[in-house]
Amino acid sequence: MGGERTATGERTGGCPVVDLFSADFTADPWPAFARLQHTAPVHHDPATGLWLVSRYGDVRRVLLDPERFRPDNTLDAVVRMSVPALRHLAAAGFALPPTLANNGTDRHAGLRRLVSGLLSGSRVAAAAPLVERLTHRHLDAVEAALTAHGRCDLVATLTRDLPFAVMLDLLGLGADAGAGTGADLGTLARWNDASLELFWGRPPRARQPGLARLAADFFTWLGGLADRAEPGRPGLLGLLAAHRHPDGTPLGRQEIIAVCYFMIIAGQATTGQMLATMLRRALHDTALWPRLGGEPGLARAWAEEMLRREPPLTAWRRVTAAPVRIGDTDLPAGAPLLLMLAATGSDPDVFDAPHALRPGRPRARDHLSFGIGRHRCPGAALARMEARVVLRTVSRRCPTLRLARPLSEEPLLGLLSFRAPTRVTVRLDAG
Ligand code: HEM
Repeated sequence: MGGERTATGERTGGCPVVDLFSADFTADPWPAFARLQHTAPVHHDPATGLWLVSRYGDVRRVLLDPERFRPDNTLDAVVRMSVPALRHLAAAGFALPPTLANNGTDRHAGLRRLVSGLLSGSRVAAAAPLVERLTHRHLDAVEAALTAHGRCDLVATLTRDLPFAVMLDLLGLGADAGAGTGADLGTLARWNDASLELFWGRPPRARQPGLARLAADFFTWLGGLADRAEPGRPGLLGLLAAHRHPDGTPLGRQEIIAVCYFMIIAGQATTGQMLATMLRRALHDTALWPRLGGEPGLARAWAEEMLRREPPLTAWRRVTAAPVRIGDTDLPAGAPLLLMLAATGSDPDVFDAPHALRPGRPRARDHLSFGIGRHRCPGAALARMEARVVLRTVSRRCPTLRLARPLSEEPLLGLLSFRAPTRVTVRLDAG
């Protein structure tokens, strides 16, 4: 074990070094996860000031104790932003008051009920045919690109836009986003990507103002949505306008914007990243790929294994409300934690031979990739449905699809909380 820690974070034993933003860590984080779990399960990272919590049992206990481990810091920027970047955000009135993921107040439960209703099991099941139709429509474009160029990027043609369209439909925002609204799917994706990098990345100072301007444009566009929110309107906007907090007050404009901002990012980025990661791994395994479309239940079970082993949302934050002990480490009040969800899915104390993808393994759904407890992801059923329908449909229609480049040559996004390929180039197998 790595020795006792003091409240200021000094370690009395050996200290593993992890650079959470390095290309090596992004490409292959599992050795670092194992090292942390084994030698320093609660590790102070001097580069970010965060306490890295990597063992399944510790992370689970933290998530299930929202009084001592608060969610207030979940949407804070990881790095201090430059003044020009902050000016862009301030000019748009950018602010994210507590609403969903970052809300530890008594106003959380009501808002959560509201979005959970839109993402209920029956609504998700009813959306499955739409996902299949959209997958086929995107595959038409994939096949056209393959015919014309011999290669095609599945991120640009399939995984980026599909979850967007599904989520906008479920939230009743389809008519508000698209051609003629100033926010087609490409623009929304650019805004999303900029927001992720600005808040969860380590962008150089020179890059920050450009990212902040895009996040500010996103916020301004959402302000237009908030202004159209009125009770009786179908979907998310109508529900938000009609909602009352426990003290009887309606949501403020900033709160409506903040809910929409989070839902659009949560609903598109994570799910698109999940699909890109799954397609990349599945296509790499040429024996598995054609089976995903034909064997009943395989796509569902294999997708669950991928969620455990290689989730898109790799880590999430909490902050201690009072002095507390995790394992053998004493932490002061106000200590920011990074709960390493991706590490917990490969904790050998819970998952036997964690590196192996074994569809249907014991405790297959016990991973923490969607969180657990009061803030557990209400979009989990939607994400799971999209994973199995997309894998099954693409495999069935394109059983001879292959990766056109070795895994190591495709770029990966590596942010504090998000990890996924940004390109999945494919070709058809000639043989
Ligand atoms: C593979 C895809 C996804 C993953 C891995 C994922 C993961 C997560 C995680 C880890 C949390 C935080 C849990 C916690 O703090 O305890 C979360 C929260 C949340 N997610 Fe997801 N998510 C995904 C897709 C979605 C989708 C599709 C939606 C909606 C359309 C969504 C909406 C939300 C919301 C609203 C919250 C905040 C819930 C609350 O604070 O009560 N997510 N998600």
